[in-house]
Amino acid sequence: MKSWLKGGFVLSLVLLVPLLAVGGGDAAKGKPVFTSKCATCHGAAGEGKDAIAKMFKVEVRPLGSKEAQARPDAELRKIITEGNGKMKPVKLSDEGAADVAAYLRTLAVKK
Ligand code: HEC
Repeated sequence: MKSWLKGGFVLSLVLLVPLLAVGGGDAAKGKPVFTSKCATCHGAAGEGKDAIAKMFKVEVRPLGSKEAQARPDAELRKIITEGNGKMKPVKLSDEGAADVAAYLRTLAVKK
């Protein structure tokens, strides 16, 4: 019984640690936020909009690209709440930003 308990504890740690490491964002909650606050510039699937790229005279990389996905979660949250280059900050709570960051991970281009 005791070793069974210990096993359960270790298992829950193994399951919890990666969750905490990504900042606890909830991708399912982040999706509607992305659709309403980000998709106008980044497209429904984060692919980027040519018109926006032209308007800001920058390249808007697909959010699923290797370069964008290489950014750690903390940096994604910072880009969202503080802006980045030509992108203006988006008003979101820390939790909202973490949810959207988690959602961005689901956009990663699979190879
Ligand atoms: C008004 C248009 C606009 C909105 C709204 C917007 N962005 Fe952006 N975003 C940009 C532009 C333009 C860039 C490129 C900035 C640059 O390189 O100067 C960018 C860059 C980024 C990057 C960096 C990508 C890379 O190349 O590494 C991330 C991540 C990002 N946006 C996430 C978001 C998220 C998440 C939201 C919604 C919470 C959002 N953006 C809302 C215009 C926008």
